[in-house]
Amino acid sequence: MSLRDTLAALRAGRAVGKRALVEFARGLADGRVSDAQAGAFAMGVCHVPMAADTRAALTRAMRDTGAVLDWHLDGPVADKHSTGGVGDCVSLVLTPALAICGAYVPMISGRGLGHTGGTLDKLASIPGFRTDLATEEMQRIVAEVGCVICGATEDIAPADRRLYAIRDVTGTVQSTDLIVASILSKKLAEGLEALVLDVKSGSGAFMTDPAEARALARALVETAQAAGVMTSAIVTDMNQPAASSAGNALEVIAAMEALTDPNARASARLVTLARVLGGECLALCGLVADADEGEARIGDALTSGAAVETFGRMVAAQGGPSDFPDRWRDRLPAAPVVAELRADAPGVVGGIDTRALGEIVVDLGGGRRREDDRIDPTVGISHMAEIGAVVTEGQPIARVHAADADEAEEAAGRVAEAIELASRPVTAPGLIREVIR
Ligand code: URA
Repeated sequence: MSLRDTLAALRAGRAVGKRALVEFARGLADGRVSDAQAGAFAMGVCHVPMAADTRAALTRAMRDTGAVLDWHLDGPVADKHSTGGVGDCVSLVLTPALAICGAYVPMISGRGLGHTGGTLDKLASIPGFRTDLATEEMQRIVAEVGCVICGATEDIAPADRRLYAIRDVTGTVQSTDLIVASILSKKLAEGLEALVLDVKSGSGAFMTDPAEARALARALVETAQAAGVMTSAIVTDMNQPAASSAGNALEVIAAMEALTDPNARASARLVTLARVLGGECLALCGLVADADEGEARIGDALTSGAAVETFGRMVAAQGGPSDFPDRWRDRLPAAPVVAELRADAPGVVGGIDTRALGEIVVDLGGGRRREDDRIDPTVGISHMAEIGAVVTEGQPIARVHAADADEAEEAAGRVAEAIELASRPVTAPGLIREVIR
């Protein structure tokens, strides 16, 4: 089938065969498919959702346009992926904890997307930290330390790199089939035995609607399992930031606080997410009898200090300071201006426009509006009050970290609008909504 026939079949709502999908993915990777053809393909998929086996075939075809990593290790190779949110620095806490519990974690992460932060941008705030590792170096660090967090090398799912950029400018990002194929083509190329997915739902997630988040979670699990990877998805709440900070260096601080003092109240959501996602992942790997035992193991890895020690080894192996677990407060850059935002009346934090907080961080310089924008690692929002918190008049509810006083003032006004103060008791939304196996 020629590409023109494939596109005509999509337009007419007819199924596209596996061979045609393999040809399309190869053509994306080697340039035989033009931008116009790729855009037409993406738009066609948005209009006519794929059957499960077609989506699985597209995912595998995209994975196979590049290398699939091969491992010879004495334990299972596993990973976690989040669909993205605000203040979501769970990977920094979870990755070393999984390694301590016996899994090997070759985490390939991304940069910030839209209003959501990216793990690579957060780690880049650590002086010297390198995320652009060659495949052999990445595999060596995983074997020596137990975990690595880095960007996709050129040879990982090149078809996705091309299609993603085209979807971004053709308004076709928001398709469950294309999101699944995009995320999993890269994750499956890691050569995993087990994968746990954190599918975010709520005001700060890409999927604001719970039913859509659940459908995405199901499609991800079904497709990854069809490719032979033991996979679960956990739908989690993103109606408030996952940590009490949003911003690159500020989220590394939040992660270091969770790693060094996991019982602190401010780290509760982050630690719960790490425990639940990690527990599920260890159970998938067969390293524990069930997810409850896995949660306890992740908890022990955090409270014993073993996870922070492994995080330090990973930072050093990737070019960061060798004394990071002891000196992280001195090593991370800080913004020149920090403005405190105080409640203008007594009340209860009733709701948070989490997407607005993410947009504020981007506007402060903590994210990109254009592909080539430079990130300011220091800016963002910290010490955010959580939903249900009772506050008195004048009590601090957030701190804004900015490059200058004008930007701090403008951002503080917007943060005040994003945090709703109610005059009634409010219960925080449940963090863990559903586990899909
Ligand atoms: N992340 C990805 O890698 N791809 C998508 O399509 C959406 C989020």
